[in-house]
Amino acid sequence: MSAALAYHAATNAPAGGTDEVSVLDQATRPHPFKDYRDADRLPLETSVAGPVLSDGAGVVRSRETGWGTIWFRGYSSAGALYPVEAYAATPVGLLSFDALGRSFARVRADDVRSQLAAAAADPRLADAGAILVLTGIPARTGWKYGERGYRHIWWDAGTLLANVLALAAADGLRPQLRVAFIDEDVNRVLRVDGVHEYALALVALGGEAAPPGANIASNSLLLAPSGPSFPLAERAHAASSLDDADAVRGWRAGQGEDEPALARDELVRAIRRRGSVRRYAPDPLPRRELAMLLAWSEAPIPVDAPPVVRQLVTVASVEGLESGVYDAELTRLRAVGERELRAAVGFAAMEQEHPRAAAANVFQLADVDAVVARLGDRGYRWAQLEAGIRAGRLQVGAFMRGWGAAASTFYDDEVSRLLGTNEAPMLMVSIGPR
Ligand SMILES: Cc1cc2nc3c(=O)[nH]c(=O)nc-3n(C[C@H](O)[C@H](O)[C@H](O)COP(=O)(O)O)c2cc1C
Repeated sequence: MSAALAYHAATNAPAGGTDEVSVLDQATRPHPFKDYRDADRLPLETSVAGPVLSDGAGVVRSRETGWGTIWFRGYSSAGALYPVEAYAATPVGLLSFDALGRSFARVRADDVRSQLAAAAADPRLADAGAILVLTGIPARTGWKYGERGYRHIWWDAGTLLANVLALAAADGLRPQLRVAFIDEDVNRVLRVDGVHEYALALVALGGEAAPPGANIASNSLLLAPSGPSFPLAERAHAASSLDDADAVRGWRAGQGEDEPALARDELVRAIRRRGSVRRYAPDPLPRRELAMLLAWSEAPIPVDAPPVVRQLVTVASVEGLESGVYDAELTRLRAVGERELRAAVGFAAMEQEHPRAAAANVFQLADVDAVVARLGDRGYRWAQLEAGIRAGRLQVGAFMRGWGAAASTFYDDEVSRLLGTNEAPMLMVSIGPR
């Protein structure tokens, strides 16, 4: 059996079960930011990547709790654990995005764009104005979700990418997402160890102004966090790594169509206002607007992988639609009475109230066996990431329309049963008026 499929089966959450580890000690909650010590600081305006990251992935608010501060970001992250870090390879060096300090910390003073282009077997990347690299830190999300935290890394990278791709397109940067690359080479460029922190995806951003500033010497940073180990996830990650340029070229499927360009100010306003909404007004959603939101979520992703996620919608309260299960074009597949549907959705969503109360829920699904048969274990990573991107678009798009939304965890088999499919749920998003 493939390591990815073994991982998937072992981390299914059964009905009545939980997705959390048994003991959560807030005293050991991981800090969701890097410690940059005395690193060189550069302003976010240093790179075209700066505005995209600060508006798409920055800190938007904070809350004090009995055990410390929670910083909320422009994208959703289960448990507010934020296991994803972002780097920008620029002409003035490799910069780490410090969301808390609202600046870049320089990790390396040399220009590593050509090295990343080689690792992605795509020479054109060397001319990108900046190459964003997202990494995952399993200890952060594993603290709460254990082995299932590996799924969360991809989901959270997806909600972050939804913002970053949309903003970069709005900035005219023609973002190109790359999920095929030589893992070891990218990790080496970033100086991360590939186990406690590893590269997830690259995003090439076009057009950079001339690099400002002098070439200051590199800092030695504490960038390789250690932490607990998650053997199933580590095995799935290693088995889905690509080892050389031929493997990258063999896996890659084109580069996808351009990201749709939306109005930047509307996007930024929605991202700043976004928060996970768990209380909805009882009013129905307007059908046409919901169809438009779904169309954005379904729109092409500018990526070197084929789409593998299908979305289905449970409609409890949408103008002009009977309650039931629909496809992403809002064609009804099955009528289900509203009471029964709400109860089943609430149960499948790990017995939570907000999916039950929402006007609609959108489920991201993939036939994981078929995905792995076609794309190997790396296809599993991409399925989870694609689900996160589509779920991220749904959340921001809901806020652009004045509605609320929230992602939710779920009992895997209950979702498949509810939707009448053999596909596995990757993620789900509740949507409703506030
Ligand atoms: C993949 C994923 C799963 C989530 N699951 C749940 C959930 O089951 N229940 C819930 O109330 N919130 C859930 N959330 C929302 C997070 O708790 C929320 O994003 C986080 O606390 C940050 O707050 P914010 O989204 O309001 O900025 C989920 C978020 C993501 C990205």
